Amino acid sequence: MSYEFLPVNILNKIDKEYIDIIKPIITNQQFINRKFYNHHEHRSVYGHSLMVSINAYYLAKKLGLDYQAAAIGGLLHDFYYKDWQLDKEKKPLLKSHGFIHANEALENSKKLFPDLMDKKVENIIKRHMFPLNFIPPFYYESWLVCFIDKYCSMEIFKEPKELYKYIGLKKEEKHE
Ligand SMILES: [Fe+2]
Ligand SMILES: [Fe+2]
Repeated sequence: MSYEFLPVNILNKIDKEYIDIIKPIITNQQFINRKFYNHHEHRSVYGHSLMVSINAYYLAKKLGLDYQAAAIGGLLHDFYYKDWQLDKEKKPLLKSHGFIHANEALENSKKLFPDLMDKKVENIIKRHMFPLNFIPPFYYESWLVCFIDKYCSMEIFKEPKELYKYIGLKKEEKHE
């Protein structure tokens, strides 16, 4: 079996069972396109989602949880429609990326991967933005992905000036 659809640096971190679970997603062109969406300054949505999914898979396995749902939900939690960092349109706070992308990701995932959806995967995706989105996760696996997503997103703190943008409060840049 050839795994050329996965980056080489990822391959030595994962096992075959994980690859089999995520293969329908990782080989889908829509998902591959996320390599060109910025998650934050130095990482794509593709790279970020894969990192969350791999960590969720192994931790769920260790804890005796549903590791399949954790792997799939982790991979699709940010499967929203557009690269939000290119969207310069001014929006009310509650319509900004941080507040709407979990629902968008769920809608998109249901459209493209209906066979991979179940109540748990859906809840993982929909509730991963707690506490910014007020309703908390329901399943252990949803909490797990919610925490791992935060942990994997810590890199944004390396660019403190960019933090406003992630909560929809980026100020207009001044041009000299
Ligand atoms: Fe997210
Ligand atoms: Fe995320």
